[in-house]
Amino acid sequence: MSTKQRVILTGGLGFIGSHTAVELSKKGFETIIIDNLDNSDAKVLDAVRELCDQEVYFEETDLKDKLATEMIFEKYDNICGIIHFAAHKAVGESMTQPLKYFDNNFNSLINILSAQLKFDIPNLIFSSSCTVYGETEILPVTEETPFGYTFSPYGYTKQVGECMLDHFTHANKNCNVISLRYFNPIGAHPSAKIGELPSGKPENLMPFITQTVAGIRDELSVFGGDYDTRDGTAIRDYIYVVDLAEAHVISLQRLLDKKNEHRHERFNIGSGNGYTVLEVIQSFERSTGLKVNYKIVDRRPGDTEAIYADTQRSRNVLNWQPKHGIDDMTRTAWEWEKKLRGIN
Ligand code: UD1
Repeated sequence: MSTKQRVILTGGLGFIGSHTAVELSKKGFETIIIDNLDNSDAKVLDAVRELCDQEVYFEETDLKDKLATEMIFEKYDNICGIIHFAAHKAVGESMTQPLKYFDNNFNSLINILSAQLKFDIPNLIFSSSCTVYGETEILPVTEETPFGYTFSPYGYTKQVGECMLDHFTHANKNCNVISLRYFNPIGAHPSAKIGELPSGKPENLMPFITQTVAGIRDELSVFGGDYDTRDGTAIRDYIYVVDLAEAHVISLQRLLDKKNEHRHERFNIGSGNGYTVLEVIQSFERSTGLKVNYKIVDRRPGDTEAIYADTQRSRNVLNWQPKHGIDDMTRTAWEWEKKLRGIN
């Protein structure tokens, strides 16, 4: 029998999951990481264990396998909550392989919810995304901003995921859920032991910048210089991954303390500040003293011109606020890339 409270982290070896495991351990939680290593590396487990003061258990399992998933829930006692990160998340890939996204993101959520019911675990945190707002003219977006049309099957799985959770919590009075709508998480742990580990060519901006400066890519393509923004490039709300990880710990504690006002609550987790792509590059150059080789090219299909968060609810209701600015994010991202590539 464990005396410590344990939290299941699906996809816990991924970028956000690994940072959240570390923050949970600081608060005395043991973690049970379930990951199928589809888009993560088993080596991350060693780094997470090095950074955690508490036990970190690991189960290599695909959540699409319902029986295997249930066996994990049977094996461990004292599970006080689940944080469900595991999902496919590449917007571009989802456009060409929608069924892969529907199969994985829906079935793994269904199996997790079934296990939550069967094993009577009251609390769940769901990884949602600002992508649920889809095409929206309303800026900044609040949690009340209605879902707009989303071009990508990935975004659709997050919209439907949240709707499924509405119905699930409505029907099951003992289940409480918080959906965290992430904006653009970047940066890395200050130890540089964990960070973003894209497989192959990065799709996202930050790892593309660091890989370009590390010499792995020749040049960064800045997608679109003709947006109606202050410098013509698209605006996003970048959030430091450790601040984002802390939002999970605070959300879980809110559910454990039964402080939630509704059985399914949602919070925007962003900084509230919008930065253009060129401003991110300038921040990187400022915080590292290094030049980024880039060229402005055509817009990327499916990209939104601008999105950033209204963070009043997460600040006032959740009592969470980001502690790090954009320069901390770009600097730690580079520290991580350097460590990964053995650059001095
Ligand atoms: C999108 C989703 C987000 C999801 C993430 C996962 C939206 C609004 N956001 O983020 O919910 O979690 O994908 O992958 O749909 N850029 C370049 N050059 C590059 C790469 C990116 O200029 O090589 C630009 C993009 O055009 C964009 C910004 O950088 O303006 C950020 O892009 P990216 O890091 O890919 O994230 P999003 O597409 O915003």
